[in-house]
Amino acid sequence: MSLDVAAVRADFPVLARRARGGHPLVYLDSGATAQKPLAVLDAERDFYLRHNAAAHRGAHLLSEEATDAYEGARARVAAFIGADPGEIVFTRNATEAANLIAYSVGNAATSGPSGGRPAGPAAERLAVGPGDEILVTELEHHANLVPWQQLCLRAGARLRWFPVTAEGRVDLSGIGALVTERTKVVAVTGQSNVTGAMPPVAAIAAAAHAAGALAVVDGAQLVPHHSVSVRETGADLLFFSSHKMLGPTGIGVLWGRREVLEALPPFITGGSVIEVVRMEGSTFLPPPQRFEAGVPAAAQAVGLAAACDYLDAVGLDAIAEHERALTERALEALTAIPGVRVLGPLTTERRGGAVSFTVDGVHPHDVGQVLDELGIAVRTGHHCAWPLHRALGVQASTRASFYLYNTAEEVDALADGIRTAQKFFGAG
Ligand code: ALA
Repeated sequence: MSLDVAAVRADFPVLARRARGGHPLVYLDSGATAQKPLAVLDAERDFYLRHNAAAHRGAHLLSEEATDAYEGARARVAAFIGADPGEIVFTRNATEAANLIAYSVGNAATSGPSGGRPAGPAAERLAVGPGDEILVTELEHHANLVPWQQLCLRAGARLRWFPVTAEGRVDLSGIGALVTERTKVVAVTGQSNVTGAMPPVAAIAAAAHAAGALAVVDGAQLVPHHSVSVRETGADLLFFSSHKMLGPTGIGVLWGRREVLEALPPFITGGSVIEVVRMEGSTFLPPPQRFEAGVPAAAQAVGLAAACDYLDAVGLDAIAEHERALTERALEALTAIPGVRVLGPLTTERRGGAVSFTVDGVHPHDVGQVLDELGIAVRTGHHCAWPLHRALGVQASTRASFYLYNTAEEVDALADGIRTAQKFFGAG
């Protein structure tokens, strides 16, 4: 099964525009956010043109249509990851989903899942308190690190982490000592946004479960690029963003096993989430409504559902293979340039399409600027993974990240651009 890149590119009008200096745009920053196909733009526009109303509110036709569209999108997203619709919570983005988990787990013992009622044994098992431990990895994006640090501060718990290897993978050699009866949560990325490394999440989740801990997977860089069936990941909770998988910004997804979601108290409260409100206090609806306060992002949900349709029509396996081939080409081309250090694994085994690198004698921001002058869009800095950069001995890097619309010629343009930057700064 191969992918017709020319046909795919025709669906993304922005790719035809000119970049700086009149150069053709070479968009290698899909790890930050993906471009949107016409089908996604049309779906959102159609919702606003013909059905716009507040979902789950109002007794009129438009509100009913908006509710159907929103709930239809929930079912579509569930099917995309092999889940049940009732296990899908729409959030603002992946970061908000991570915060939801950390806050709700932190509050599980003190605030029962239905508000005024006692927490119950399931929630008490999830709760994090003094002396408990949260285990993450040094590979994490700040979104799957800082909320856990904050929970540890609030709960008097301790944050521990798996270190990384020199090639930017999770070092699991200490797993026996790190996962203990004190571990309450093990939270790990499915694919690093810097090194592309793909930790063995199912094995890590199994170790977490053996210790009675909750397994959380950050799927932000995984779900857009690989066929994911949430049950096969072994996770209890997994989250991702729409905008990195061709969908709109402003909506993310938290998937959770039903019994876990049912045990958790709400995070953001207000309208929509409540069962009964009295001046003295409130009780809350079952999941997923318990976690969706305020007017739902229905247009964004519809756009995300269209993105799922688009990705499935092209085929996730074909997309993964296309990205693998691009990544292989990039690894070969970049490692052949003297002075370039790739920060991730040098083969495509258990590795996705984020290729971060440093160039001796040229600051990453300068590399990014020269590439931009040539029309090539990359990300520079620490990519919201500062501890990982520190562990790899660098302050910052330049990152190219690929998606279904990228071509082999664009990878070659990246390599040529790096050589141009080296010449410009006298570092070649
Ligand atoms: N998390 C996004 C990235 O890695 C923004 O670029």
